[in-house]
Order: sequence, then C-alpha cells, then structure tokens
Amino acid sequence: MADSERPIVIVGASLGGAKAAEALREAGYRGGIVLIGEEHERPYERPPLSKGYLMGKDDREKIYVHPPQWYAEHDVTLRLGTAVAAIDPAARTVTLADDGQVGYHKLLLTTGSEPRRLPVPGADQDGVLYLRRVDDSDRIKAALRPGARIAVIGAGWIGLEVAAAARTAGAEVTVLEALELPLLRVLGREVAQVFADLHRDHGVDLRFGVQVTELTGADGKVSGVKLGDGSEVAADAVVVGIGISPATALAEAAGLEVDNGIRTDQHLRTSDPDVYAAGDVANAHHPLFDRHIRVEHWANALNQPQTAARAMLGQPDAVYDRVPYFFTDQYDLGMEYVGYVEPGGYDQVVFRGDPATREFIAFWLSGGRVLAGMNVNVWDVTDPIRELVRSRRVVDPKALADPDVPLGEV
Ligand SMILES: Cc1cc2nc3c(=O)[nH]c(=O)nc-3n(C[C@H](O)[C@H](O)[C@H](O)COP(=O)(O)OP(=O)(O)OC[C@H]3O[C@@H](n4cnc5c(N)ncnc54)[C@H](O)[C@@H]3O)c2cc1C
Ligand SMILES: NC(=O)c1ccc[n+]([C@@H]2O[C@H](COP(=O)([O-])OP(=O)(O)OC[C@H]3O[C@@H](n4cnc5c(N)ncnc54)[C@H](O)[C@@H]3O)[C@@H](O)[C@H]2O)c1
Repeated sequence: MADSERPIVIVGASLGGAKAAEALREAGYRGGIVLIGEEHERPYERPPLSKGYLMGKDDREKIYVHPPQWYAEHDVTLRLGTAVAAIDPAARTVTLADDGQVGYHKLLLTTGSEPRRLPVPGADQDGVLYLRRVDDSDRIKAALRPGARIAVIGAGWIGLEVAAAARTAGAEVTVLEALELPLLRVLGREVAQVFADLHRDHGVDLRFGVQVTELTGADGKVSGVKLGDGSEVAADAVVVGIGISPATALAEAAGLEVDNGIRTDQHLRTSDPDVYAAGDVANAHHPLFDRHIRVEHWANALNQPQTAARAMLGQPDAVYDRVPYFFTDQYDLGMEYVGYVEPGGYDQVVFRGDPATREFIAFWLSGGRVLAGMNVNVWDVTDPIRELVRSRRVVDPKALADPDVPLGEV
C-alpha cells in the first residue's frame, strides 16, 4: 500500500492522543487518522478526577477533550475499547488485541502511564482503590462518605488531592508516606513542609517514614493497613497513590529505545524514524536543559502532541522546548509550578512572601540561576517566572525575594 493511502495511527486515546489528532487537522493534514484506545470512554482529561469531579462539583461532560461528534466531523476514526497488542516497525503495522491489523505511514505513541501497584499481601482485596481512570474516580467518590475512615498510601499528588477531597466530604483521613515529607522529591524539604502543614490544619492524620507491610481484611474486604512498627490503621477504604510507570511495553517489544519512558529526540521522534511519542510516556530530549526529561503532567500531554503532529508532517522546525508547567488545587490552596528541578538538584530556595500565610512564590535556584518557581495563591505570574527560568541568568536573591521588585526586573 502506498504511503499516501496509509493513515497516521495514534495509539492511546486520552489527552495526548486527542490533541495530536486535533493538531494534525489544524496543520492541514487531509489523510487518514486512526486514534486507538483501550478505554471505552472517548478521550478525557484526568485532573478533574482527583478534584472537581471527585468532589461532585464538576459533572461528567466537563472532563472530555472534545464533544462526541468532533471525531466524525474531523474525519478521525476513533476506535475505543481496542488495545494495540504489538507494533511491527518493519511492516509499519499495529496489531490489535482482537486480532485485526492497521497499517500506518507514521505512528504516534501516547500510551501514557499506569499506577504502580502496592506489592504487599492483601492488596488485591475489595476497597483497595487506585486512581487513573474515570471509573476509579467514581469508586473513590462512593467511598468518601462523612465519617468513613480513608487510609491514603503515598503523599504525592494523588494522595494529597484525594486527602483534600476526602476531608471536604467529611471523611476521617490518614495519609501514610514512606519519606519524611509529602511531595519531597518534587518540592524539596523547604516547600514540602507547606503541604504537610496545610493537611494537618485540615485535620488529616499524616504519618511519615512509614513502611506499609500488609493490608488486613475479612471476607475479601480491606479493613486496615499494617505498618512496619507493628501498628495498624483501621480503614473502610484504602486509596493507593504511589506513583506511575510509563506504558512502554509495546515500544519495548517493538525494539524501540526505552529508558525511563520511550526515548525521543527534540522532535519527539523515537529511535524508529516513523514512530513518535508524546505525553507521560515520552522521555524527550529537551533543548533548554540539554537532556532527556519525562514529564508526568497535563500541560505536557496538552502541548507535546502539536510538536509531534508537525514533526510527523515533515516540518523540521517542530521542536518541543516548552518549560514544564503543572498545577494543583487542595482545599483553598491553588498553585502553579513552572520549571524543572531534579530531586535534590537545587542549592537554594528563595521565598517571595511568607510561606506560613500560604500566599507566596517559591523559587528553586542552583548557582544563582532560577530552575523553577511556584506561585501559591498568587496569580498571573507564570509568564515572568517562565522567562526567569528560560533566561538562565544569575539573579540577585534579595531582589527575587522582594515583592516590590517586578519579577521581570530581577
Ligand atoms: C487523577 C489524576 C489527576 C491529575 N491531575 C493533574 C493536575 O492537576 N495537573 C497536572 O499537571 N497533571 C495532572 N495529572 C497528570 C495528567 O493527567 C497526565 O500527565 C496526563 O493524563 C497524561 O496524558 P497522556 O495522554 O500522555 O496519557 P494518559 O492520560 O495516561 O492516557 C494514555 C491512554 O493510552 C491508553 N493506552 C495505553 N496503552 C494502550 C494500548 N496498548 N492500546 C490502546 N490504548 C492504550 C490508556 O488506556 C490511556 O487511555 C493527573 C493524573 C491523574 C491520574
Ligand atoms: N496536580 C498534579 O499535577 C497531579 C495530580 C494528580 C496526579 N498527578 C500525576 O499522577 C501520577 C501519579 O501520582 P502519584 O501521587 O501516585 O505519584 P507521585 O510520584 O506524585 O507520588 C508518589 C508518592 O508515594 C510515595 N510512596 C511510594 N511508594 C510508597 C509506599 N510503598 N508506601 C508509602 N508511600 C510510598 C512516594 O514517596 C511519593 O511521595 C503522577 O504522574 C502525577 O504527576 C499529577
């Protein structure tokens, strides 16, 4: 079959996949697009699943990337409930789990990531809940009743956002974290403390440095969490948020280069010139940082597909060099984070404003250069923070801390 007759195939029908289809049409591509996803829902966004949707504030229609008719209107063949079982890069085909094959002339992998499973006895009982998909959010929502005892394992983004939703619903919440503070690897000690204080002030029982050894239960239903010191936390439900693994199995089996995700160049092209990757699964070379980074956040899955789409259409200037960005909302704290810091990769934290008031900006620096900034309950500052990160200039920490000095003049 000639290249012009083969479609562009996208595997993974979530935010990344849907945005790629949109970007291909916006770029003027008129050939076939086949978007294949194993979930039965049309592409949707995950941030509401641990926030507004989980709390019953946002209705279901709000989560979708496009209205149902969008796919037909843009001549995108959407194959839901369809897992891809294998890729043959030499023949340029994908094999579907239910046995069909689809040929491609370019292939984009937006297979995302999957929750890590808790490797302890009792973890397969009813009432042990993970959060990745919309039906997971429905199950957790049903468990968040006033007075219910909810144990949350992991004080990362999932754990803390679920804890906030659970407290808001009137549940009793215990958070069990292996490290000494929440979000420690992302935020470092100085700023992680702000999130520990936030949750304590909202009545969460936070336990750090714990080891979960077993989930106890009766008749197949969980009833508690056993810890390494022999103590037990009683629970009506256990929510596990201990990180994700990028969904690389297909890529690996196809012989693509995989290392903490599917490795790509700055055009999001993998080690096979006809195969691209974007979103959570892509470990992409970033020209600003001159290294490969894999970003597990919404804005990356929103924006990388535009670059991948343009690159697949042969546009040589399609390079992904955006500064990473993410956000969270917990109780009355809203924040945005711009930049990139490896765990322990900074030597100074500068606060503009008092973190105790929960209205401040934190900056992480190395060698006097701003690596990242996070605005907490302070708005409309991400552009100047992004510019500070991008400029890589050495700044005066006193000016950075001084709210009277505009960020653009630091
Ligand atoms: C509950 C929750 C809340 C979040 N909140 C925020 C937030 O507030 N801010 C933020 O910045 N980020 C947030 N994130 C992270 C953000 O949602 C992810 O970074 C984003 O979903 C990544 O999108 P993706 O399209 O790359 O992958 P995914 O969303 O993981 O989608 C991948 C899709 O590919 C499908 N797939 C995988 N393998 C195959 C296969 N072999 N065949 C067919 N289909 C396949 C999967 O079923 C899935 O539908 C949150 C994540 C979760 C789970
Ligand atoms: N606001 C946001 O940006 C947002 C919100 C929700 C989810 N997400 C994304 O969803 C994904 C999953 O989030 P997550 O919170 O599961 O991952 P995470 O990596 O943010 O946090 C995992 C936490 O679990 C802890 N942990 C690991 N093993 C443990 C164990 N055995 N016992 C106790 N604690 C343990 C880690 O130390 C860490 O604090 C991530 O990619 C995240 O970026 C992002």
